[in-house]
Amino acid sequence: MGLTKAPFGEEFVWGVSTAAYQIEGGYLQDGKGFSIWDDFVRKRGKIANKENGDVACDFYHRYADDLQLMAGMNIRHHRFSIAWSRIFPVGRGEVNQAGVDYYHRLIDHMLALGITPWITLYHWDLPSSLEIKGGWTNRDIVDWFGEYVAFCVKHFGDRVKHWMVLNEPMVFTGAGYFLGIHAPGRRGLNSFLAATHHAALAQAHGARIIKSLQPEGMVGTTFSTSHVEPFSNRERDIVAAKKADALLNRLYIEPLLGMGYPTDEIRALRKLEQFMKAGDEQNLKFDMDFVGVQNYTREIIKHSYFVPYLRAKLVTAQERQVPTTTMNWEVYPESIYHVLKKFSAYPTMPPLMITESGASFPDVLENGKINDAARVQYLQDAIAQMYRAKQDGVDIRGYFFWTFLDNFEWAEGYHPRFGLVHVDFETQQRIIKASGNWYADFLRD
Ligand code: GAL
Repeated sequence: MGLTKAPFGEEFVWGVSTAAYQIEGGYLQDGKGFSIWDDFVRKRGKIANKENGDVACDFYHRYADDLQLMAGMNIRHHRFSIAWSRIFPVGRGEVNQAGVDYYHRLIDHMLALGITPWITLYHWDLPSSLEIKGGWTNRDIVDWFGEYVAFCVKHFGDRVKHWMVLNEPMVFTGAGYFLGIHAPGRRGLNSFLAATHHAALAQAHGARIIKSLQPEGMVGTTFSTSHVEPFSNRERDIVAAKKADALLNRLYIEPLLGMGYPTDEIRALRKLEQFMKAGDEQNLKFDMDFVGVQNYTREIIKHSYFVPYLRAKLVTAQERQVPTTTMNWEVYPESIYHVLKKFSAYPTMPPLMITESGASFPDVLENGKINDAARVQYLQDAIAQMYRAKQDGVDIRGYFFWTFLDNFEWAEGYHPRFGLVHVDFETQQRIIKASGNWYADFLRD
């Protein structure tokens, strides 16, 4: 297809996604409290090259220039997150006015430049004081989160009408509370299951609060997804792939749709029951205005006796000798088509948006330019796959590219670069990459 945005329609939302901890820096600036990521990056051996997000892209100080750059690239929608501990340094109670003022300035600036703000309320940086009380494993977090959400809607809701409750609950509970490779670095089935149930309750509770305070607002939440395929046609690989699919793609969306947790595929999930109270099943459900799907790759799954609970493991992209990104993920934009089809097949699914899609490649700076042809290709293919799903009847309303600036990629540090804009982390110089120029042309009216 000759790629233009016209066939997506006038109303289609095109934007970029970012996250507070990955870009802001200013980690102790103006009264901000510690978050679990501020703690986690200080633990030995957790982050590649001992890097951290203390400064990151210094967006906290440079937002005005960066938003100007964004507007100059014809980007009219920015999905960003609020750092909970900038507003409530210890998670609740006393407010840090300087943090609130920062987000006021950010929002006002975006609006002045014609950029619509889409706020993610939780992109993984839980205030440390709440983690000390158990974090997502403590059921009280549903109320703590609710208080924070209500505050944000009351203070920013006069100008912000688009909300995303959580970013990828499966990733922050799985990597943070089961595998221990992300903050807060906890491990084990019990902490994972407790965190899962409370995050699932919080995603509906948060949305309910937004809607009650701002009935005209657009409320959604986001999910990590992967197109899952069995390694072979053998029954045990097929069973393994179904389990992996239940974990990676179904665990959070199904309770939200009122279908409960996918316990048929994964027996260990039946233990979620110990955290359930009367009324929970109903409270897990909420009719979102949209659902955000985030996708980077597919997974090929095979049976394994050695993996507890799942009896399934990934066949890595290296083992399969397929092209990969610097995250070692297979380059597979078709996955976007498949996950959109899969999500839209749920009968009560609201309209979908791609709230993250992108790829990290080893960018080379040459004569002051970054000709990231592989990322240009990825972006074009991703959009084409989304169009393919749209033509099949999928109700898709928007696309947010991950991400605007190269940034702090969690446990991987600064090595993987995902941006449309290159960042020199020594000098904080920004250079628009070829992909950024391509997107800017694509978005031009
Ligand atoms: C997502 C996450 C983002 C970003 C991206 C690339 O899972 O929401 O914060 O890191 O992956 O890995």
